Amino acid sequence: MIKSYKELLGPVRGESGRPLFRLDELNEDDTAGISGVYGFPHGLVVVRRDGQLYVYINFCPHQGKSLDWNPGEFLNYDKTKIICEAHGAVFNIEDGICIGGPCHGEGLMPVAVEIRDGAVYAATTSDHADPAGSAQE
Ligand code: FES
Repeated sequence: MIKSYKELLGPVRGESGRPLFRLDELNEDDTAGISGVYGFPHGLVVVRRDGQLYVYINFCPHQGKSLDWNPGEFLNYDKTKIICEAHGAVFNIEDGICIGGPCHGEGLMPVAVEIRDGAVYAATTSDHADPAGSAQE
């Protein structure tokens, strides 16, 4: 298990002025994998649920693998949890905490985001203070 993945990744910094995606590109209950964004070498997991965006670094705390079971697909069959394709870890959507699997009790790293003019931006610098990594529409 990777114990210090936050230290491994370093501080989270978004590229100011450049949106991650437009909000109208992601429907309610959909997920997206965002890659190729400066400051996020592992890419991002995005879930839109109940009027909230939940954003995490696509980096499983178990062995640091990407979570996608298909590109941009992160949820279990009934779309209630985020799962890791590699070894089946199960995470809450709302707080990223692992509730089952090999990294039980660990958590995904949230990314603070903000919505401006219909576009979603990473906070310029995140100290991971936002526990849910979420933004309300
Ligand atoms: S790397 Fe995710 S459960 Fe093992």
